[in-house]
Amino acid sequence: MAFTIAIDGPAAAGKGTISKAVAQHFGFAHLDTGLLYRAVGRRVLDGVPALDAARALVAADLDAGDLRTPAVAQAASKVAVIPEVRAELVDFQRAFARRQGGAVLDGRDIGTVICPEAEAKLFVTASAEVRAQRRFAELAEAGLATDYDRVLVEVKERDARDTGRADAPLRPAPDAVQIDTSELDIGAAVALAIQAVNNVRGVF
Ligand code: CDP
Ligand code: CDP
Repeated sequence: MAFTIAIDGPAAAGKGTISKAVAQHFGFAHLDTGLLYRAVGRRVLDGVPALDAARALVAADLDAGDLRTPAVAQAASKVAVIPEVRAELVDFQRAFARRQGGAVLDGRDIGTVICPEAEAKLFVTASAEVRAQRRFAELAEAGLATDYDRVLVEVKERDARDTGRADAPLRPAPDAVQIDTSELDIGAAVALAIQAVNNVRGVF
């Protein structure tokens, strides 16, 4: 049986962490769709035209170790504005969403564009300051030197680009359950997410 959990929200809101835990809880497969855009963005930084990179995307690209850098995140949000790039990535995401056995996808447009028929939709948010603090801590942990103010500026730039674009802008689906993680630790956020999914699972 197909059962799709769509998890959208802005950068560093906790989507990935929640998605992994929810997928594990229900025994579903998980796709971090941001990695698709990051893989294209990284190839663009190497000089490859964005559309060529999107067309040539292969699974191995998603395992590249250098997809988590701030430069790649910015490049990803720039290629994500291009409708032809987004169109190239749709079929793979839709097939994943409707696979047998259940799927969790996290991104920006899963509940609105990729899988509007998803059985459960979550929109995970947190204040820009909390999100920048989390991303800053992650980068410091990974040994990537940066400062908090710069991370905050980049988070806000990406928010503006992701919400302001014409094609598949970041916004909650009308039927999404919103979870603000600003004041929640990971365990509490995951518990709320599982509860929200269980609330609709009984219906299907
Ligand atoms: O996938 P997304 O960019 O939305 O966020 P993430 O990678 O899941 O989380 C960003 C960072 O925030 C990670 O280091 C998480 O451990 C942390 N986090 C947190 O401290 N509290 C939460 N409630 C959720 C995530
Ligand atoms: O981990 P974080 O939330 O910082 O970013 P990400 O989920 O890896 O996404 C990187 C960029 O890809 C975002 O800023 C978006 O511009 C783009 N993206 C998108 O447009 N649509 C998606 N479904 C996922 C990501």
